[in-house]
Amino acid sequence: MSDRRGRRLAERCHVKRLSWAIALAAAAGPGMVVLAADGPVDDQLVIDGREMITRTMAPAGHPLPEVLSGWLFREAETRATEADSFANPGMLAVERGEELWNTVDGSAGKSCTSCHGNAADSMKTVGANYPKWDAAAAKPVNVELQINKCRVAQMGAEAYGFDAPDQLALTAYVKHQALGTPMHLDLAAGDMQSWWDKGKAVYYTRMGQLNLACASCHEASTGKYIRADHLSQGQVNGFPTYRFNTGGMVSLHNRFRGCIRDTRAEMPKAFSDELLALEVYVTWRGTGLSVETPAVRQ
Ligand code: HEC
Ligand code: HEC
Repeated sequence: MSDRRGRRLAERCHVKRLSWAIALAAAAGPGMVVLAADGPVDDQLVIDGREMITRTMAPAGHPLPEVLSGWLFREAETRATEADSFANPGMLAVERGEELWNTVDGSAGKSCTSCHGNAADSMKTVGANYPKWDAAAAKPVNVELQINKCRVAQMGAEAYGFDAPDQLALTAYVKHQALGTPMHLDLAAGDMQSWWDKGKAVYYTRMGQLNLACASCHEASTGKYIRADHLSQGQVNGFPTYRFNTGGMVSLHNRFRGCIRDTRAEMPKAFSDELLALEVYVTWRGTGLSVETPAVRQ
């Protein structure tokens, strides 16, 4: 075993369950979530020779002055792993996604390539501009749902189930094509604005037995620690991400559900209107950050 792997394993074993830390915090009373504070690092993320925007001025109407990538809050080794495509285990999912992109599936005898050709061209900005308004469905569509739409309507194939390994891999592959591109949503399209409003309401709603909102941790407590977890702004620009913790890829809605579970609230379903609205709103909160898919997290 290499030194690096060994250290990584050790690091993983030391990460205590978040819920336990929160239970402690709750016992201490509201507002006592935090144990210490530490700012984001002052470091530059370069992936494959490309400079990523990990820190930028927030868009108008944003509650914070600056938008910060979660990368700035991770340990040095986690940051280094993301910066090195060869070391980043998430790139295995991206490679699997490329295989799927080129694989014929379904009754129409087509692959993604049949219609979209080279993903480096056709999918260049998708990862930075989704969720996007879907006029036919009269709601926003995210990348996972768009892939399923094409599989069913265009290929005569089955939709992927939530978090199926192939869904994670193809989503990572499609979003990875936008690596480095600043995130930007078109909120003027269709009813996007009302979904943004709905997502914002969810973001500030205190939930669960612990009575915490997304904002309690990711806005009010950014930079502080819950046990071994250094709280970031909870940005979405690296999803699906590779996590050392689980040794696998984690989708965005899985992460949302995990954060909600940790407040001891009932978890909305993946791709439910509630989580789609949250995805619209939280993606907007990261406006201007580079897509980092697949990011590496602890
Ligand atoms: C038979 C042709 C066809 C096939 C095969 C196909 N698509 Fe599509 N795809 C389309 C069309 C047409 C659109 C635009 C209309 C829509 O949104 O459905 C589209 C749109 C998309 C978009 C949104 C692009 C954008 O700029 O917003 C993505 C992402 C996408 N497809 C991914 C895939 C993936 C991944 C596969 C393989 C699993 C695939 N498609 C297979 C025809 C196809
Ligand atoms: C009790 C505190 C807490 C609450 C409440 C909470 N989270 Fe988190 N969240 C965390 C911790 C801890 C992490 C892992 C460290 C980090 O990136 O902040 C995390 C990570 C994330 C990430 C991944 C960030 C990255 O860079 O990979 C996203 C996205 C996220 N949270 C969104 C949300 C949303 C949306 C809500 C509300 C539904 C929410 N969180 C509620 C504690 C919380």
